[in-house]
Amino acid sequence: MLAAVAEDPMAKPDTTEIAGRIERLRREIDEHNYRYFVLDDPAVPDAEYDRLVGELEKLEAAHPQLVTPDSPTQRVGAKPAAGFETVAHDIPMLSLGNAFSAEEVREFDRRIRDVLDREENCYVAEPKLDGVAISLRYEDGRLAAGVTRGDGRTGEEVTSNVRTIRSVPLKLRGPGIPGRLEVRGEIFMTRSGFAALNRRLEKAGQKTFVNPRNAASGSLRQLDPGLTADRPLRFFCYGAATSDGLPDTHMAILERLKEMGIPVSPEVRRLTGVDALLEYHADILSRRDGLDYDIDGVVYKLDDLDQQREMGFVSRAPRWAIAHKFPAQEELTTLREIQVQVGRTGALTPVARLEPVFVGGVTVTNATLHNIDEIRRKDVREGDQVIVRRAGDVIPEVVRALHERRRKELPEWNMPAECPECGSRVVREADQAAHRCTGGLVCPAQRKRALEHFASRNAMDIEGLGTRLIDQLVQADLVASPADLYRLDAETLAGLERMAEKSASNLVAAIAASREVPLGRLLFALGIPEVGEVSANQLARHFGSLEGLARATSEELEAVPDIGPIMAGKIHAFFREPHNRAVVEDLQAVGVQWQAPEDAGGGDDRLAGNTYVLTGSLSSMPRSEAKAALEARGAKVTGSVSKKTTAVIAGDDPGSKLEKARELGVEVLDETGLAELLGED
Ligand code: IVH
Repeated sequence: MLAAVAEDPMAKPDTTEIAGRIERLRREIDEHNYRYFVLDDPAVPDAEYDRLVGELEKLEAAHPQLVTPDSPTQRVGAKPAAGFETVAHDIPMLSLGNAFSAEEVREFDRRIRDVLDREENCYVAEPKLDGVAISLRYEDGRLAAGVTRGDGRTGEEVTSNVRTIRSVPLKLRGPGIPGRLEVRGEIFMTRSGFAALNRRLEKAGQKTFVNPRNAASGSLRQLDPGLTADRPLRFFCYGAATSDGLPDTHMAILERLKEMGIPVSPEVRRLTGVDALLEYHADILSRRDGLDYDIDGVVYKLDDLDQQREMGFVSRAPRWAIAHKFPAQEELTTLREIQVQVGRTGALTPVARLEPVFVGGVTVTNATLHNIDEIRRKDVREGDQVIVRRAGDVIPEVVRALHERRRKELPEWNMPAECPECGSRVVREADQAAHRCTGGLVCPAQRKRALEHFASRNAMDIEGLGTRLIDQLVQADLVASPADLYRLDAETLAGLERMAEKSASNLVAAIAASREVPLGRLLFALGIPEVGEVSANQLARHFGSLEGLARATSEELEAVPDIGPIMAGKIHAFFREPHNRAVVEDLQAVGVQWQAPEDAGGGDDRLAGNTYVLTGSLSSMPRSEAKAALEARGAKVTGSVSKKTTAVIAGDDPGSKLEKARELGVEVLDETGLAELLGED
């Protein structure tokens, strides 16, 4: 009966039945929202959710008299007539004192212990979300108003925009909802949502946002709620304005709010004693880059509300709470000069030389500017004040220049017409972002980077042969091609600056030890354009010999799993180039020997098509060996977990990848599972 209603709402004139269906759909959709945003445990795929919303929309369109303001379809309403109204907060929105060191946190805890005369305090620790603070007023369980923090006393009424945010419930759940409830929290944009939004804006030729916080703030302050509805905003609550009708500890309040359907960060913890707080800080800091939203620290709050009252306030910040900040990931500094770096393939990368600045926990003096388009788009010039960002292990980058601070007109910067390293002509192919040096291996910079790659850990793995030494060797004309490395002797090396005899002989030994190498590694080491480790191993398995690979036609190359026409073309061209063949022959001449994989020539393909991620330490073998063993059986091994991952193999002390796997419902295997996969049980 009801299915017929769903398919053709007009065919069913009985409105009580339809009203019932509408009510059930609303309840079901609200329940899915709750599971998705509050419990972080979605029950149905997005498509099913969209289908339910679609059905409800159809029914409501056919029966407009049944539409109610708290229906999940009614998130986008009318525009406010003229801008946003400024309204006063009944209860001011406070700010927090900051701590930047463990010592300052200990001091905060000590002060509270002194005032309360206690041995140890109970706290709630929460992430400090980097978004826009908001106060949401619920009247009789229904969302009545959303007001930004503003200056803490008055803010802007953005209710119609807040209503469009799906994680903000329009109606609270369950019994015992207080008549009036004011919850406070942060509206933010996920990093993935931010990246997607900026891609969309860029495509449409519109101005992009500099970071997720600005994007959240800009989106929330759109005058057209339809535009806000289109933006990937989220909400987490971190408290209530008053505890009227709520429990008497902060943690219990958050739990109660969660029951009512209000999302609370899953990272919130109740902790005892200051050491536990510092551990929490260290833990979240270590996972900061893995979270999908920006946080700029953590917040500690005394759990017991009576104790909070006893501590009171200083000016506008509570003495019972503090923000323990993380090192800033963005800082302001001066761009002294733009220089270009020449990479292994001749690509020229403009690099900003900066006034040293402490950012992301280290002192940064260089930052990448990517390419000339990026420099033009951001209009970055030598002498500019710039914002530098360093997040986690990512290479520092110049986010933007503060044009308003330019005191005088600065000249535009241009790519050099000649390679700064070898003087060869610089060209830019029509469809490419990068400029390239045409010097090939004549260019010392390309030669250096190619040698560096050749010696690197996942290639020939020559220990002790790093960037500095390679630069010295090329500069001194001791090494021009990879084979030259095998001709070096300890005496020559010991003649180099800052090279002790012992290190010289160690290096010669390390180079000699690399003479015997698995074919896949050698292929990777050669630096064939486009060929990464995985493809190199696949090629080694497929062809079993370097000669076979060098002879292969583009069609034969394309027959290898995962090798497309572009890579096939590059490999083919590489081996047609006489000087590349000479490099290989020369390596053979100095005694480099490669071994074909055991199962080469179309052997074991049992795991073909499967993708695995390794995390944590394995007791039976190093991770690199497990990776090689899986690849030898045709599997792909990648570094990050996605829905496409077949399974995550977790050893001891697994990292966030394990959590991610659980989140996505990806299978998790232990070492026994790995042994079974490899057929070694
Ligand atoms: S509590 C009385 N908790 O930080 C305490 N604030 O300076 C009032 N913020 O803009 C704030 N995450 O929006 C609190 N877990 C959290 C927070 C948090 C972010 C923001 C807040 C305000 C600023 C406080």
